[in-house]
Amino acid sequence: MGAVIAPSILSADFARLGADIKDADAGGAGLIHVDVMDGHFVPNLSMGPLVVAALRPLAEQAGAVLEVHLMIAEPDRYLDAFRHAGATAMTVHVEACPHLHRTVHAIRGLAAQPGVAINPATPVAALEEILPDVDVALLMSVDPGFGGQTFIPGTIGKVARLRAELVRRGLQHVEIEVDGGVEPENVRALADAGMTIAVAGTSVFDPRAPVGQNVGALRAACGFHEEAVTRP
Ligand code: DX5
Ligand code: ZN
Repeated sequence: MGAVIAPSILSADFARLGADIKDADAGGAGLIHVDVMDGHFVPNLSMGPLVVAALRPLAEQAGAVLEVHLMIAEPDRYLDAFRHAGATAMTVHVEACPHLHRTVHAIRGLAAQPGVAINPATPVAALEEILPDVDVALLMSVDPGFGGQTFIPGTIGKVARLRAELVRRGLQHVEIEVDGGVEPENVRALADAGMTIAVAGTSVFDPRAPVGQNVGALRAACGFHEEAVTRP
């Protein structure tokens, strides 16, 4: 099968972010993943719409989806700002959205691709009602908040169960994205289970090899496919 590789810029060298992203794109990355943290929903702070606006020309040049992973409380308050900054896909957490259906449709209303994420301890069943309304279902394979954590192996079973559910309901177009601790050693099992987008920070921006080469290694490890993620 194979999967699109989505570099998480959280682990990039911020002093040379533009160059890192160009290298990742040259290596075949199809999506740029921007981790937004608020110090409330997760115990860390990261970046906001200004960084997304700075990345926008690079993503457009590369023809890559610019996805914001909103690990924030009350994401509805910021959807407009991120969309206007250039985000073309916006993913919110089930655990942070009491009115998830409304939030997902607000994202759709902004002509962006809606995604919904669940934490490692949240069962796949929590996605059941919202699946027909989303473009992306994101399964966290670490507890969100930090890069460089260890992959939780139970995620592979969650991917397989979600894939079976999507097939059963004729929703095969929904992307299954996995985020956290993804590396060449586990990416193949995830792709075989039905993952279509692999987020990777540490393994893409590992300074021991050029960024493009790291992306290529992940693509090769999971048997890449050319099918691009469609822009809205
Ligand atoms: C975790 C973030 C991830 C993470 C990925 O809260 O959502 O995107 O930083 O980085 P690695 O690949 O280092 O786990
Ligand atoms: Zn993320």
